[in-house]
Amino acid sequence: MDEIARLRSRYIDLTVSALTHMLYRPFDIRWDQNPEPDDYSGSDELREAAAKEFAREDFDWASVRADGRDWPQYAQTMVGLKRLANVRDCVERVIADGVPGDLIETGVWRGGVVILMRAILDAYDDRERTVFAADSFRGVPPPNDDAYPSDAGSRLHTAKALAVPREDVERNFDLYGLLDDRVRFLEGWFKDTLPAMKGRTWSVIRLDGDLYESTMDALANLYPGLSVGGFLIVDDYGHEPCRQAVTDFRDANGVDEPIEPIDWLGAFWRRAH
Ligand SMILES: C[S@@+](CC[C@H](N)C(=O)[O-])C[C@H]1O[C@@H](n2cnc3c(N)ncnc32)[C@H](O)[C@@H]1O
Repeated sequence: MDEIARLRSRYIDLTVSALTHMLYRPFDIRWDQNPEPDDYSGSDELREAAAKEFAREDFDWASVRADGRDWPQYAQTMVGLKRLANVRDCVERVIADGVPGDLIETGVWRGGVVILMRAILDAYDDRERTVFAADSFRGVPPPNDDAYPSDAGSRLHTAKALAVPREDVERNFDLYGLLDDRVRFLEGWFKDTLPAMKGRTWSVIRLDGDLYESTMDALANLYPGLSVGGFLIVDDYGHEPCRQAVTDFRDANGVDEPIEPIDWLGAFWRRAH
């Protein structure tokens, strides 16, 4: 490995460690520190089970954060290390292969994944691509039971912890020295903001909006613009509503590239045609 490649790799590693808060001690896991019902959308039983787990003396804090199973207090992403490695791999591959198009994440929370995307482009001195950060910046929409029965009963919209103001995300970009004119914010519900993105070319699309509706809105508006050789990443594929939206979209549009699992939650595929 030449010297530039070695330093580039160390910069990206360090960025990941900082974004996940794994660079710092004490460990940063949210559930036990803020067990308010509004902060965690799971059932009471789940919350109690989590609290019991945390109380165990041999509880493995590092692996929870590394797996991205919690909603951390300080980290700028809740995504775990394997899914971040997948983001890195996808971005590096589109750069290496010259796959055209911008990058987008739909559902950015505190911005960690889009900051990582921008950092990787910077590390490779890519001056062409823009990173788009799409979010309401006020959390997940209430479920629309009639239009999207798969989302019925979801309480995610009550989770205050998911509502991160745009200024906070901008500040996080700025902390890494990465807020510039090749970062664009799409503020609002996906159903209102993403239709205006039709016609753009994408090299990496990452979906992290939790609901069927959020996943489907992103796929319908963005997937037609994904370059051949580009990547479609789904953070929440392990959650039933999201998986159902992916299945319905693929079936309706003849998408047949194999879906590759990343970890217990995420999956992706590379567009072949
Ligand atoms: C699980 S968080 C995303 C985590 C993030 N990718 C990270 O790196 O930690 C889900 C985000 O999606 C946003 N969201 C979900 N559905 C949305 C929709 N339909 N329109 C706009 N924002 C949405 C929420 O505001 C929230 O910030």
